[in-house]
Amino acid sequence: MGLHLCLFITIYLSVSASIFNASSALSEAENYDEQALFGECSSAADCKAGFYCFSCGLLDSKCVRSMYTDQFQLLNNSLPFNKYAYLTTHNSYSIEGEPSHTGVPRLTFYNQEDNVTQQLNNGVRALMLDTYDFEGDIWLCHSFGGKCYKETAYGPANETLKEIEAFLSDNPSEIVTLILEDYTKEGGLTQAFTKAGLMKYWFPVSKMPRSGKDWPLVSDMVAQSTRLLVFTSIRSKEKAEGIAYQWNYMVENQYGNGGMTEGKCPNRGESSPMNDTTKSLVLVNHFRSIPLSPLSCMDNSASLLKMLNTCHADAGNRWANFVAVDFYKRSEGGGSFQAVDVLNGELLCGSDDVHDCVPAGSPRAAASYGRD
Ligand SMILES: *[C@@H]1O[C@H](CO)[C@@H](O)[C@H](O)[C@H]1NC(C)=O
Ligand SMILES: *[C@@H]1O[C@H](CO)[C@@H](O)[C@H](O)[C@H]1NC(C)=O
Ligand SMILES: *[C@@H]1O[C@H](CO)[C@@H](O)[C@H](O)[C@H]1NC(C)=O
Ligand SMILES: *[C@@H]1O[C@H](CO)[C@@H](O)[C@H](O)[C@H]1NC(C)=O
Ligand SMILES: *[C@@H]1O[C@H](CO)[C@@H](O)[C@H](O)[C@H]1NC(C)=O
Repeated sequence: MGLHLCLFITIYLSVSASIFNASSALSEAENYDEQALFGECSSAADCKAGFYCFSCGLLDSKCVRSMYTDQFQLLNNSLPFNKYAYLTTHNSYSIEGEPSHTGVPRLTFYNQEDNVTQQLNNGVRALMLDTYDFEGDIWLCHSFGGKCYKETAYGPANETLKEIEAFLSDNPSEIVTLILEDYTKEGGLTQAFTKAGLMKYWFPVSKMPRSGKDWPLVSDMVAQSTRLLVFTSIRSKEKAEGIAYQWNYMVENQYGNGGMTEGKCPNRGESSPMNDTTKSLVLVNHFRSIPLSPLSCMDNSASLLKMLNTCHADAGNRWANFVAVDFYKRSEGGGSFQAVDVLNGELLCGSDDVHDCVPAGSPRAAASYGRD
């Protein structure tokens, strides 16, 4: 423990010293209202809507973004699902401060700070969940060897599925994607989704495009209320249960430290190469193998934007649809929210900010960041 703490502080201080660079942070966020972004603050009340008061490391607190830009509200939702980008949380269920549900203390890492309802309310639209058979039910667990333990379990999946159901029910124009690292037996997920009242939102595998074709229009998915996309890592479940096998539809770069080398965007083992355009969805992972919240504000800032460009080139000039991060609200300014604005801007109008896609003269040109 002592050694770890000491090592941690050493890494933390050296990274802080080399990365906190006001001029690069400024250029990263030059499109933003400087008062809102760089104004020092002592509480959320000092920041405008869509921002919160946060200190990245040892610096003074500043107002940084805490909320996405709703591209559908800013523009429209008449394009195919794969023409938009969505903020994605890695291990969305692994939340600091959530009590143990097994009676023994947890001995594992945390990847997020907000609960799933807060994540969704702030604009997260894809959740990465690890599902296991445990204690006679399906649990969310961060484990190894395909087996969940009391020390690594977070909680029964039903609670999280209920939060997702509540969000879809309260927000009839929103689409949520679940990406499951799945260790459950056949049949269990269908039963869990049915119990949670989620089957009524199910987007059927039969409508998922193969051979690199476009997805259905978001407006049609909303009209038909097929607003829940679920991908599993178990191939046989697509045929057996109608749960999409992720790697038939999506390419993804290496996760963890292997995906954070500047200038490189190798595919993860299970995925086709990034430039396999027969899969029409692209996911970029950008988080460390071992999550450390104090470092994530840098990981979610300038280096994330660089990686999106690298992966764009390596994915056959395709911008990511999903960008997956830890501690999604931590940043030096625009963070993961700005990253998604960049992606939506590139996808929708070839500009590096979705706000540039608003036609000149439109009443929405004055729309502010986020959803005030
Ligand atoms: C800070 O960033 C700027 C612009 O990216 C760069 O030119 C400069 O060398 C950096 N300074 C330090 C101390 O890293
Ligand atoms: C919807 O937005 C896209 C992207 O900005 C634009 O190309 C398209 O013309 C818009 N469609 C309608 C019906 O407004
Ligand atoms: C999520 O967090 C918010 C803020 O702390 C709290 O009000 C809400 O009850 C939580 N929801 C769940 C389902 O835990
Ligand atoms: C979830 O399942 C557990 C048993 O695994 C049960 O105790 C709990 O009441 C359930 N919660 C909901 C919201 O259904
Ligand atoms: C895809 O990328 C690989 C390297 O990962 C390269 O060898 C191959 O030529 C590329 N294919 C196309 C069609 O660009």
